[in-house]
Amino acid sequence: MEKAVLAYSGGLDTSVIIPYLREKYRLQVIAYTANLGQKIDPDFLRKKALASGAAGFYFDDLRETFVRDYIFPALAANALYQGRYPLATALSRPLIARRVVEVARREKAKFLSHGCTGKGNDQVRFELTWKALGPDFEIIAPLREWQFKTRDEEIEFARQRKIPVPVTRKSPYSLDENLWGVSIECGILEDPAVVPPEDAYQITTAPERAPDKPQVVRVAFEKGRPTALDGRRLEPVALIERLNRAGGRHGVGRVDLVEDRTVGLKSREIYEAPAATILITAHRELEKLTLTRSLWELKESLRERYAWMVYQGAWFTEEKEALDAFFNSTQKYVNGQVDLKLYKGSVTAIGRRSPDSLYSEALATYGRGDLFDRTAAKGFIDLAGLPLLLEGRRRLKRR
Ligand code: ARG
Repeated sequence: MEKAVLAYSGGLDTSVIIPYLREKYRLQVIAYTANLGQKIDPDFLRKKALASGAAGFYFDDLRETFVRDYIFPALAANALYQGRYPLATALSRPLIARRVVEVARREKAKFLSHGCTGKGNDQVRFELTWKALGPDFEIIAPLREWQFKTRDEEIEFARQRKIPVPVTRKSPYSLDENLWGVSIECGILEDPAVVPPEDAYQITTAPERAPDKPQVVRVAFEKGRPTALDGRRLEPVALIERLNRAGGRHGVGRVDLVEDRTVGLKSREIYEAPAATILITAHRELEKLTLTRSLWELKESLRERYAWMVYQGAWFTEEKEALDAFFNSTQKYVNGQVDLKLYKGSVTAIGRRSPDSLYSEALATYGRGDLFDRTAAKGFIDLAGLPLLLEGRRRLKRR
């Protein structure tokens, strides 16, 4: 029997895919799950995968790789899709997909499979990664081809095969969670006019119910990567977890967005990304102190472009890697600390310092010890203003 490796979440769809691939394609299914910081119980998943008929189950804790090789490069770019979405789901898919290919090679599998729907972004992200890293495999996307019209039909199919069906009431939303944020969609949220009910939010307090007392956090960066929180050095995963908790408590990082999907349609999405929101705010603040204006502007001009590449699933392209090299080279002097105030849903930078700051108080001050050569400003204005002077003279002549 040939083998397929399936990116497995343990939900209904990927559970049903296991017997589906066996019956329809006569394949042995190896289930693959990664811990990226979501709520997860590997023993439960293993049992469930095997009970669903999987011939094998792989589990990786990829949190550290995810932060170092996926989240931090995106932070260097300050990547926000359409200006608001920190890309939690989008960043995770290329990593999961890459590991699925590695498992498939080890298992000598011929097929790769996922449980993404036919109108979402995640199918694109998985499959673009598989084209880039596993062009020798065949891809099967059961949700694009199977005939279930309702969830009940799918549950019936599972029941007939004695596959464990979730007993708890399914959340009315579709959720995807990792260290960089939670993505929430479907159900009542599909109407963009509807105010999201409080139960849609998983990790943040409503700003109006957040503490009345603000909390100040101090984030330290080395070469653009966060390394310490409130003066304590922390491993990247722990640092992000802590910021998610602190930010979540203060209602920071909620996003309610109508976004453009890769496949062309618009969709209404809710995100919660406390740590991402705090870190991007802090990181940009430190860049304002340490990058020249023109480098800052060049970075900014590539920011949306980079976010789009990540969103669309172009992680393993040479174009994206070239941009990573650029962003990485801009981070050499992004060292220092930023103080941020978390308060009722907002995060505000209130102080910043850097050993590599380009800010010179001696030049900026209006007080004593001013080193700025004011006399040089006249020559600067004369030359910068020359074209304006010429236009002005012409205007006068034509009046
Ligand atoms: N719209 C977001 C994105 O494309 C979230 C997708 C959520 N995925 C999911 N399987 N629930 O990145």
